[in-house]
Amino acid sequence: MAADIAEQPAVLAGLLDHGRDDIAAVAARVAEHRPRSIVFTARGTSDHAALYAAYLTEIRLGLPASLASPSVVTVYDSRPDWSDSLVIAVSQSGGSPDLAQVVAAARASGALTLAVTNNSGSRLADEAELHLDIRAGHERAVAATKTYTAELLTLLLLIEGIRTGTGQVDPTEAAALDKLPELAHDVLDGSGADELAGRYRFADRFVTTGRGYAYPTARETALKLMETSYLPSLAFSGADLLHGPLAMTDPGVPVLAVVGSGPGGHAMWNVLTQLGRQRADVVVVGAADLPGQTARLRTPAVDERLAAILDILPLQQLALHLAIERGENPDAPRGLKKVTETT
Ligand code: F6R
Repeated sequence: MAADIAEQPAVLAGLLDHGRDDIAAVAARVAEHRPRSIVFTARGTSDHAALYAAYLTEIRLGLPASLASPSVVTVYDSRPDWSDSLVIAVSQSGGSPDLAQVVAAARASGALTLAVTNNSGSRLADEAELHLDIRAGHERAVAATKTYTAELLTLLLLIEGIRTGTGQVDPTEAAALDKLPELAHDVLDGSGADELAGRYRFADRFVTTGRGYAYPTARETALKLMETSYLPSLAFSGADLLHGPLAMTDPGVPVLAVVGSGPGGHAMWNVLTQLGRQRADVVVVGAADLPGQTARLRTPAVDERLAAILDILPLQQLALHLAIERGENPDAPRGLKKVTETT
Protein backbone atom coordinates (compact mmCIF):
# COMPACT_ATOMS: atom_id res chain seq x y z
CA MET A 1 0.00 0.00 0.00
CA ALA A 2 2.90 2.34 0.82
CA ALA A 3 4.42 1.73 -2.62
CA ASP A 4 1.08 2.20 -4.40
CA ILE A 5 0.54 5.48 -2.54
CA ALA A 6 4.04 6.70 -3.37
CA GLU A 7 3.59 5.99 -7.07
CA GLN A 8 0.73 8.43 -7.48
CA PRO A 9 2.73 11.45 -8.72
CA ALA A 10 4.20 9.22 -11.47
CA VAL A 11 0.80 7.74 -12.33
CA LEU A 12 -0.72 11.23 -12.65
CA ALA A 13 2.22 12.36 -14.81
CA GLY A 14 1.90 9.27 -16.99
CA LEU A 15 -1.79 9.87 -17.53
CA LEU A 16 -1.19 13.51 -18.44
CA ASP A 17 1.68 12.61 -20.79
CA HIS A 18 0.32 9.49 -22.46
CA GLY A 19 -3.41 9.23 -21.72
CA ARG A 20 -4.58 12.69 -22.73
CA ASP A 21 -5.08 11.99 -26.46
CA ASP A 22 -7.23 8.90 -25.88
CA ILE A 23 -9.34 10.77 -23.34
CA ALA A 24 -9.71 13.73 -25.72
CA ALA A 25 -10.89 11.41 -28.51
CA VAL A 26 -13.57 9.90 -26.27
CA ALA A 27 -14.56 13.35 -24.94
CA ALA A 28 -14.96 14.65 -28.51
CA ARG A 29 -17.12 11.64 -29.38
CA VAL A 30 -19.34 12.29 -26.34
CA ALA A 31 -19.59 16.02 -27.12
CA GLU A 32 -20.71 15.16 -30.65
CA HIS A 33 -23.30 12.70 -29.30
CA ARG A 34 -24.79 15.38 -26.98
CA PRO A 35 -26.21 13.19 -24.20
CA ARG A 36 -28.96 14.77 -22.10
CA SER A 37 -27.59 13.32 -18.87
CA ILE A 38 -24.74 11.21 -17.54
CA VAL A 39 -25.43 8.11 -15.46
CA PHE A 40 -22.59 6.52 -13.49
CA THR A 41 -22.37 3.02 -12.12
CA ALA A 42 -19.59 1.76 -9.85
CA ARG A 43 -18.78 0.13 -6.51
CA GLY A 44 -16.66 1.05 -3.49
CA THR A 45 -13.72 3.32 -4.22
CA SER A 46 -14.72 3.59 -7.86
CA ASP A 47 -18.16 4.72 -6.73
CA HIS A 48 -16.47 7.61 -4.94
CA ALA A 49 -14.67 8.55 -8.16
CA ALA A 50 -18.06 8.36 -9.91
CA LEU A 51 -19.59 10.65 -7.28
CA TYR A 52 -16.81 13.18 -7.94
CA ALA A 53 -17.55 12.96 -11.67
CA ALA A 54 -21.26 13.44 -10.97
CA TYR A 55 -20.45 16.77 -9.29
CA LEU A 56 -18.27 17.71 -12.28
CA THR A 57 -21.05 16.77 -14.70
CA GLU A 58 -23.65 18.95 -13.04
CA ILE A 59 -21.37 21.89 -12.18
CA ARG A 60 -19.15 22.01 -15.28
CA LEU A 61 -21.46 20.63 -17.97
CA GLY A 62 -24.83 21.67 -16.58
CA LEU A 63 -26.14 18.18 -17.30
CA PRO A 64 -28.06 16.09 -14.76
CA ALA A 65 -25.97 13.29 -13.32
CA SER A 66 -27.02 10.23 -11.37
CA LEU A 67 -25.56 7.08 -9.86
CA ALA A 68 -27.35 3.98 -11.09
CA SER A 69 -27.79 1.16 -8.61
CA PRO A 70 -26.83 -2.09 -10.35
CA SER A 71 -29.54 -3.93 -8.39
CA VAL A 72 -32.18 -2.16 -10.50
CA VAL A 73 -30.94 -4.29 -13.40
CA THR A 74 -29.46 -7.33 -11.67
CA VAL A 75 -31.85 -7.95 -8.77
CA TYR A 76 -35.11 -6.28 -9.89
CA ASP A 77 -34.62 -7.10 -13.57
CA SER A 78 -35.76 -3.61 -14.59
CA ARG A 79 -34.60 -1.81 -17.73
CA PRO A 80 -34.68 1.99 -17.32
CA ASP A 81 -34.76 4.06 -20.50
CA TRP A 82 -31.23 5.43 -20.73
CA SER A 83 -31.43 6.16 -24.45
CA ASP A 84 -30.64 9.90 -24.08
CA SER A 85 -27.80 9.30 -21.64
CA LEU A 86 -24.14 8.57 -21.54
CA VAL A 87 -23.72 5.66 -19.12
CA ILE A 88 -20.24 5.46 -17.56
CA ALA A 89 -19.10 2.44 -15.55
CA VAL A 90 -16.04 3.08 -13.38
CA SER A 91 -14.05 0.09 -12.13
CA GLN A 92 -10.39 -0.62 -11.43
CA SER A 93 -10.66 -4.26 -12.37
CA GLY A 94 -13.57 -4.17 -14.79
CA GLY A 95 -14.29 -7.52 -13.19
CA SER A 96 -17.58 -7.21 -11.35
CA PRO A 97 -20.40 -8.89 -13.28
CA ASP A 98 -23.10 -6.47 -12.10
CA LEU A 99 -21.43 -3.44 -13.70
CA ALA A 100 -21.07 -5.32 -16.99
CA GLN A 101 -24.77 -6.18 -16.81
CA VAL A 102 -25.75 -2.54 -16.27
CA VAL A 103 -23.63 -1.48 -19.24
CA ALA A 104 -25.13 -4.22 -21.42
CA ALA A 105 -28.66 -3.13 -20.42
CA ALA A 106 -27.82 0.54 -21.05
CA ARG A 107 -26.36 -0.25 -24.44
CA ALA A 108 -29.41 -2.29 -25.37
CA SER A 109 -31.64 0.65 -24.38
CA GLY A 110 -29.74 2.90 -26.81
CA ALA A 111 -27.37 4.71 -24.41
CA LEU A 112 -23.84 5.65 -25.35
CA THR A 113 -21.71 3.58 -22.97
CA LEU A 114 -18.21 4.10 -21.64
CA ALA A 115 -16.09 1.93 -19.33
CA VAL A 116 -13.32 3.60 -17.32
CA THR A 117 -11.03 0.84 -16.01
CA ASN A 118 -7.48 -0.17 -15.19
CA ASN A 119 -7.92 -3.34 -17.25
CA SER A 120 -8.52 -2.96 -20.96
CA GLY A 121 -8.87 -6.73 -21.30
CA SER A 122 -11.80 -6.90 -18.87
CA ARG A 123 -15.38 -7.92 -19.59
CA LEU A 124 -16.54 -4.42 -18.69
CA ALA A 125 -14.16 -2.78 -21.17
CA ASP A 126 -15.46 -5.17 -23.80
CA GLU A 127 -19.13 -4.61 -22.98
CA ALA A 128 -19.06 -0.80 -23.37
CA GLU A 129 -18.92 0.95 -26.71
CA LEU A 130 -16.09 3.20 -25.52
CA HIS A 131 -13.25 2.47 -23.10
CA LEU A 132 -10.71 4.57 -21.23
CA ASP A 133 -7.66 3.06 -19.57
CA ILE A 134 -6.72 4.85 -16.34
CA ARG A 135 -3.09 3.68 -16.81
CA ALA A 136 -2.39 3.18 -13.10
CA GLY A 137 -0.36 -0.01 -13.57
CA HIS A 138 -0.57 -3.04 -11.31
CA GLU A 139 -1.92 -2.17 -7.85
CA ARG A 140 -0.38 -4.50 -5.27
CA ALA A 141 -2.39 -3.73 -2.15
CA VAL A 142 -6.03 -4.72 -1.81
CA ALA A 143 -6.99 -1.19 -0.75
CA ALA A 144 -7.27 1.02 -3.82
CA THR A 145 -5.12 4.14 -3.76
CA LYS A 146 -3.38 4.94 -7.04
CA THR A 147 -6.30 3.59 -9.05
CA TYR A 148 -8.58 6.05 -7.23
CA THR A 149 -6.58 9.17 -8.10
CA ALA A 150 -6.06 7.86 -11.66
CA GLU A 151 -9.85 7.44 -11.99
CA LEU A 152 -10.37 10.98 -10.68
CA LEU A 153 -7.91 12.51 -13.15
CA THR A 154 -9.26 10.48 -16.09
CA LEU A 155 -12.81 11.62 -15.30
CA LEU A 156 -11.70 15.23 -14.84
CA LEU A 157 -9.91 15.26 -18.22
CA LEU A 158 -12.94 13.61 -19.82
CA ILE A 159 -15.47 16.09 -18.47
CA GLU A 160 -13.31 19.13 -19.13
CA GLY A 161 -12.82 17.81 -22.68
CA ILE A 162 -16.58 17.39 -23.15
CA ARG A 163 -17.03 20.93 -21.82
CA THR A 164 -14.94 22.57 -24.56
CA GLY A 165 -16.68 20.47 -27.20
CA THR A 166 -13.41 19.58 -28.94
CA GLY A 167 -12.30 16.93 -26.47
CA GLN A 168 -9.23 19.02 -25.59
CA VAL A 169 -9.02 20.66 -22.19
CA ASP A 170 -8.95 24.47 -22.13
CA PRO A 171 -5.27 25.64 -22.10
CA THR A 172 -5.52 27.46 -18.74
CA GLU A 173 -7.04 24.35 -17.21
CA ALA A 174 -4.37 22.18 -18.83
CA ALA A 175 -1.60 24.32 -17.31
CA ALA A 176 -3.11 23.85 -13.84
CA LEU A 177 -3.42 20.11 -14.41
CA ASP A 178 0.22 19.85 -15.46
CA LYS A 179 1.24 20.99 -11.96
CA LEU A 180 -0.63 18.13 -10.28
CA PRO A 181 2.18 15.52 -10.23
CA GLU A 182 4.59 17.90 -8.52
CA LEU A 183 1.97 19.07 -6.05
CA ALA A 184 1.09 15.43 -5.30
CA HIS A 185 4.75 14.70 -4.66
CA ASP A 186 5.03 17.64 -2.25
CA VAL A 187 1.87 16.62 -0.36
CA LEU A 188 3.08 13.05 0.08
CA ASP A 189 6.54 14.20 1.11
CA GLY A 190 5.67 16.10 4.26
CA SER A 191 2.06 15.52 5.18
CA GLY A 192 2.57 14.63 8.85
CA ALA A 193 0.03 11.81 8.51
CA ASP A 194 2.37 9.42 10.33
CA GLU A 195 2.39 11.64 13.46
CA LEU A 196 -1.36 11.99 13.32
CA ALA A 197 -1.68 8.20 13.15
CA GLY A 198 0.18 7.96 16.46
CA ARG A 199 -2.23 10.43 18.00
CA TYR A 200 -5.30 8.47 16.87
CA ARG A 201 -3.93 5.03 17.50
CA PHE A 202 -6.53 4.33 20.17
CA ALA A 203 -9.52 5.96 18.46
CA ASP A 204 -12.43 3.57 18.19
CA ARG A 205 -14.31 5.37 15.40
CA PHE A 206 -14.06 8.30 13.00
CA VAL A 207 -16.37 10.76 11.31
CA THR A 208 -15.35 12.24 7.96
CA THR A 209 -16.99 15.18 6.25
CA GLY A 210 -16.74 17.56 3.29
CA ARG A 211 -18.98 19.29 0.79
CA GLY A 212 -19.19 19.22 -2.99
CA TYR A 213 -16.01 17.91 -4.59
CA ALA A 214 -14.66 17.15 -1.10
CA TYR A 215 -17.54 14.85 -0.17
CA PRO A 216 -16.19 11.92 -2.25
CA THR A 217 -12.86 12.47 -0.44
CA ALA A 218 -14.67 12.11 2.90
CA ARG A 219 -16.37 8.92 1.69
CA GLU A 220 -13.17 7.42 0.34
CA THR A 221 -11.30 8.24 3.56
CA ALA A 222 -13.95 6.47 5.64
CA LEU A 223 -13.69 3.40 3.39
CA LYS A 224 -9.88 3.33 3.68
CA LEU A 225 -10.07 3.53 7.50
CA MET A 226 -12.68 0.78 7.68
CA GLU A 227 -10.94 -1.65 5.35
CA THR A 228 -7.37 -1.25 6.63
CA SER A 229 -7.86 -0.49 10.36
CA TYR A 230 -11.34 -2.00 10.80
CA LEU A 231 -12.45 1.25 12.43
CA PRO A 232 -16.11 2.18 12.05
CA SER A 233 -16.01 5.42 10.04
CA LEU A 234 -19.01 7.38 8.93
CA ALA A 235 -18.86 9.89 6.09
CA PHE A 236 -21.30 12.77 5.81
CA SER A 237 -21.73 15.75 3.58
CA GLY A 238 -21.18 18.74 5.89
CA ALA A 239 -24.84 19.65 5.41
CA ASP A 240 -26.09 16.18 6.33
CA LEU A 241 -23.90 16.19 9.42
CA LEU A 242 -25.88 19.17 10.70
CA HIS A 243 -29.18 17.39 10.08
CA GLY A 244 -28.76 15.10 13.07
CA PRO A 245 -25.52 13.10 13.18
CA LEU A 246 -23.67 16.11 14.67
CA ALA A 247 -25.21 14.98 17.97
CA MET A 248 -22.84 12.01 18.15
CA THR A 249 -19.69 14.16 17.91
CA ASP A 250 -17.75 14.92 21.08
CA PRO A 251 -14.08 15.29 22.08
CA GLY A 252 -13.62 11.51 21.85
CA VAL A 253 -14.63 11.11 18.20
CA PRO A 254 -12.04 12.43 15.71
CA VAL A 255 -13.63 14.30 12.80
CA LEU A 256 -11.64 14.52 9.56
CA ALA A 257 -13.01 17.62 7.78
CA VAL A 258 -11.96 18.25 4.18
CA VAL A 259 -12.13 22.01 3.69
CA GLY A 260 -11.18 23.32 0.25
CA SER A 261 -10.35 26.85 -0.86
CA GLY A 262 -13.51 27.39 -2.91
CA PRO A 263 -17.30 27.34 -2.48
CA GLY A 264 -17.44 23.83 -1.01
CA GLY A 265 -14.81 24.77 1.56
CA HIS A 266 -16.62 28.00 2.47
CA ALA A 267 -19.81 26.00 2.97
CA MET A 268 -17.91 23.99 5.60
CA TRP A 269 -17.20 26.98 7.85
CA ASN A 270 -20.56 26.80 9.55
CA VAL A 271 -20.06 23.06 9.99
CA LEU A 272 -16.73 23.75 11.71
CA THR A 273 -18.40 26.29 13.99
CA GLN A 274 -21.03 23.74 15.00
CA LEU A 275 -18.35 21.09 15.53
CA GLY A 276 -16.51 23.61 17.72
CA ARG A 277 -19.62 23.95 19.90
CA GLN A 278 -19.58 20.18 20.34
CA ARG A 279 -15.90 20.47 21.37
CA ALA A 280 -15.20 17.90 18.66
CA ASP A 281 -11.63 16.86 17.85
CA VAL A 282 -11.38 18.24 14.30
CA VAL A 283 -8.56 17.56 11.86
CA VAL A 284 -8.81 20.00 8.96
CA VAL A 285 -7.57 18.76 5.60
CA GLY A 286 -6.91 21.73 3.34
CA ALA A 287 -4.87 24.86 2.78
CA ALA A 288 -6.07 27.24 5.50
CA ASP A 289 -5.84 27.22 9.28
CA LEU A 290 -9.37 27.41 10.59
CA PRO A 291 -10.92 28.16 13.98
CA GLY A 292 -11.75 25.08 16.00
CA GLN A 293 -9.24 22.75 14.38
CA THR A 294 -7.19 20.60 16.71
CA ALA A 295 -4.85 19.30 14.00
CA ARG A 296 -4.05 19.82 10.33
CA LEU A 297 -3.22 17.87 7.22
CA ARG A 298 -1.95 20.58 4.91
CA THR A 299 -2.74 20.45 1.20
CA PRO A 300 -2.30 23.15 -1.47
CA ALA A 301 -4.80 25.92 -2.21
CA VAL A 302 -5.93 24.87 -5.67
CA ASP A 303 -9.29 24.78 -7.44
CA GLU A 304 -11.54 22.33 -5.59
CA ARG A 305 -11.79 20.11 -8.68
CA LEU A 306 -8.05 19.54 -8.49
CA ALA A 307 -8.00 19.50 -4.69
CA ALA A 308 -9.97 16.24 -4.75
CA ILE A 309 -6.94 14.55 -6.32
CA LEU A 310 -4.53 15.98 -3.72
CA ASP A 311 -6.57 15.97 -0.48
CA ILE A 312 -7.02 12.21 -0.47
CA LEU A 313 -3.23 11.61 -0.46
CA PRO A 314 -2.45 12.41 3.21
CA LEU A 315 -5.66 10.62 4.18
CA GLN A 316 -4.50 7.45 2.42
CA GLN A 317 -1.23 7.83 4.34
CA LEU A 318 -3.18 8.26 7.57
CA ALA A 319 -5.08 5.02 6.91
CA LEU A 320 -1.84 3.22 6.11
CA HIS A 321 0.03 4.43 9.22
CA LEU A 322 -2.93 3.94 11.49
CA ALA A 323 -3.21 0.31 10.41
CA ILE A 324 0.49 -0.23 11.06
CA GLU A 325 0.29 1.53 14.48
CA ARG A 326 -2.59 -0.77 15.40
CA GLY A 327 -0.67 -3.88 14.42
CA GLU A 328 -2.71 -4.60 11.27
CA ASN A 329 -1.46 -5.45 7.79
CA PRO A 330 -2.76 -2.72 5.46
CA ASP A 331 -1.64 -4.69 2.38
CA ALA A 332 -4.00 -7.55 3.03
CA PRO A 333 -7.12 -6.51 4.93
CA ARG A 334 -8.98 -9.44 6.42
CA GLY A 335 -11.87 -10.83 4.43
CA LEU A 336 -11.17 -8.86 1.25
CA LYS A 337 -9.89 -9.79 -2.20
CA LYS A 338 -8.58 -7.47 -4.87
CA VAL A 339 -11.45 -8.19 -7.21
CA THR A 340 -14.88 -8.35 -5.65
CA GLU A 341 -17.52 -9.95 -7.82
CA THR A 342 -21.04 -8.83 -7.00
CA THR A 343 -24.23 -9.54 -8.89
C1 F6R B 1 -11.51 -0.30 -1.86
C2 F6R B 1 -11.66 -1.09 -3.07
C3 F6R B 1 -13.03 -1.52 -3.42
C4 F6R B 1 -13.26 -1.49 -4.91
C5 F6R B 1 -14.61 -2.10 -5.24
C6 F6R B 1 -14.89 -2.00 -6.71
O1 F6R B 1 -10.19 0.02 -1.59
O2 F6R B 1 -10.73 -1.39 -3.78
O3 F6R B 1 -13.98 -0.74 -2.78
O4 F6R B 1 -13.21 -0.17 -5.36
O5 F6R B 1 -14.61 -3.44 -4.87
O6 F6R B 1 -13.91 -2.65 -7.45
P1 F6R B 1 -13.64 -2.29 -8.94
O7 F6R B 1 -13.23 -0.85 -8.94
O8 F6R B 1 -12.57 -3.21 -9.38
O9 F6R B 1 -14.95 -2.49 -9.66
